[in-house]
Amino acid sequence: MKKKVTKAIFPVAGLGTRFLPATKSVPKEIMTLVDRPLIQYAIDEARAAGIEDFIFVTSRGKTALEDYFDLAPDLESALEKSGKTALLDVLRTTNMDSGAIAYIRQHKPLGLGHAVSCASKLIGNEPFAVILPDDVIAAEKPCLQQMVEAYEETGGAMVAAMEVAPDKTSSYGVLDVNDKNGDAVVSINGMVEKPAPGTAPSNLAVIGRYILTPHVMQNFAHITKGAGGEVQLTDAIAAEISQGRDVFGYRFDGQRFDCGSKAGFLQATVAFALARDDLRDDLLSYLSDLNAADKAAQ
Ligand code: G1P
Repeated sequence: MKKKVTKAIFPVAGLGTRFLPATKSVPKEIMTLVDRPLIQYAIDEARAAGIEDFIFVTSRGKTALEDYFDLAPDLESALEKSGKTALLDVLRTTNMDSGAIAYIRQHKPLGLGHAVSCASKLIGNEPFAVILPDDVIAAEKPCLQQMVEAYEETGGAMVAAMEVAPDKTSSYGVLDVNDKNGDAVVSINGMVEKPAPGTAPSNLAVIGRYILTPHVMQNFAHITKGAGGEVQLTDAIAAEISQGRDVFGYRFDGQRFDCGSKAGFLQATVAFALARDDLRDDLLSYLSDLNAADKAAQ
């Protein structure tokens, strides 16, 4: 029987330089879409998929993340006293059980693969998920939950996948697939991290959700530095394929926002605000006024 996926790694050690100066003192993962930090979206998605153990791979300057998931007794009692129960409920969604969350440090920025390998001892002999909080996915059924359900049928390793424009493939891990019919689960022949323009095996890109076998951790012992001079997670997963193990792509249902870029972050902000009853009408009328003013000016 396949083991249940109950552990997830959140690589959060990145410097977030694309968002300087904000990220000089605020970890990128604490930046907010409407009123929830990016990391909260990732945690909620993991919880919905049945994750019980949350492993954060952090770096210097990320203590705000640890504080975010701690209890806030003063704030709670102030809200209680003033009868603000709805806000209290919101606050409590950030609470984590003691022992459910672990922080380990990646001391040097050696790449995503290296960050994941730092959690190897905590993973032990279990399958595990990896969630990149920069990739925010709006979906009726949360993306990782879709993948866990598919994984229960397939086993092996699985990466979230999405078609991207051919001129964008060099920004992603890209899958080599035989697939012609667009099924959700796709068997993979290989995968390449950030292929040079014009050399991508397809336009099916890896998005930041993974379900991996503990064996993937062993591959870090023998893979060398890859794209960008970094230890790449893509290369450790590709090694599974060359060793004859199953790796699948999963075309998820949902809309992915690249919150590692300013444009993606802004789009996500608008999309999540429009999904909120308390903000939708005002924002829509603001956007349509803007649009009208823009047209008039042309
Ligand atoms: C990482 C992965 C890449 C994946 C991408 C998805 O790249 O290395 O394979 O396609 O996330 O967002 P990064 O965006 O960190 O450069």
